[in-house]
Amino acid sequence: MRSASASAPGKFVVLGEHAVVYGKPAVALAIDRRFRCTVSESSRLLLNGVPDDLSLHPHMSNILKANGVGKISIVTESDLPSGSGLGSSAALSAALSCAVRTMLGKPADEKDVIGEAYDAEFGAQGIGSPMDTSASVHGGGIGVNITCDGEPLWTIERNGNRWDVCDVHAPEMTFVVGYTGIKALTGPLVERVRRYKDRNSFAKDIVDEIGSVTLEGADALRRNDRVKLGKLMTADHKLLSILGVSGPELNRLVDAAAEYSYGAKLTGAGGGGSMIALTDRPEKVCETIRLHGGTPMVVNTGVPGVKAGKTS
Ligand code: MEV
Repeated sequence: MRSASASAPGKFVVLGEHAVVYGKPAVALAIDRRFRCTVSESSRLLLNGVPDDLSLHPHMSNILKANGVGKISIVTESDLPSGSGLGSSAALSAALSCAVRTMLGKPADEKDVIGEAYDAEFGAQGIGSPMDTSASVHGGGIGVNITCDGEPLWTIERNGNRWDVCDVHAPEMTFVVGYTGIKALTGPLVERVRRYKDRNSFAKDIVDEIGSVTLEGADALRRNDRVKLGKLMTADHKLLSILGVSGPELNRLVDAAAEYSYGAKLTGAGGGGSMIALTDRPEKVCETIRLHGGTPMVVNTGVPGVKAGKTS
């Protein structure tokens, strides 16, 4: 009986979420929290040992369809709470694509997995950029539509938008994630911003401004200028709030972290989920996040992307 395992990391967005959906720049870093899955041939479709038609798991059924697989056993394990803004669905798509392809003897390197994993994400959400999937598949850091040092890793085009994705070598910096505990679905939040932007020229200007802030931030990250990067992160949070994707819980954690950070902002789709703070005082930031009702995690970056095999 053929079987294979794979894992992929979650991510946080340093700058540029939502605006990246329209081809604006963004920077995201993979984190040391992974989604793992093991697949094996089976006489029926099983999810974590239980029969399932995957109707509630469109990412998974899209990956199986892309590989012409119907009956399979999928066992999953994740360090990433779903709907937490930390890229759990992109990590799931990347890990499952890699595991299924490996089991079938197909090539499963990052360039083989990216298209399939992004199609699964896009198919499930109906809208969105390849930023999360790219961070999860490549690992380390990725920049979208920023000035690349070398050739782009890949270019993806959809619905008139184009995303050139390149490797970003981020210097050692400490980021603390604060999870609000509120699960938020990415698709509806992205759709809400799209409607706002399409009907309102002010919202369109905010999206453009997020693009400019992100380009400046990508440059500050490259120069290891934490003071500048932190200021731009906080500015980005304000712009995202104007777009309506923050909320009282996120604002409370961002404001609380500000005293001990270079900057802080929501990360991912917003509406709940998580925020991040760039800091030299992670203990203080963790303490204040806890005091203000969030769950803190000090995350490490510079981690590998999708890979076949078992990982702890
Ligand atoms: C979600 O992590 C990031 C968004 O920009 C959506 C996307 O890029 O597809 C909100």
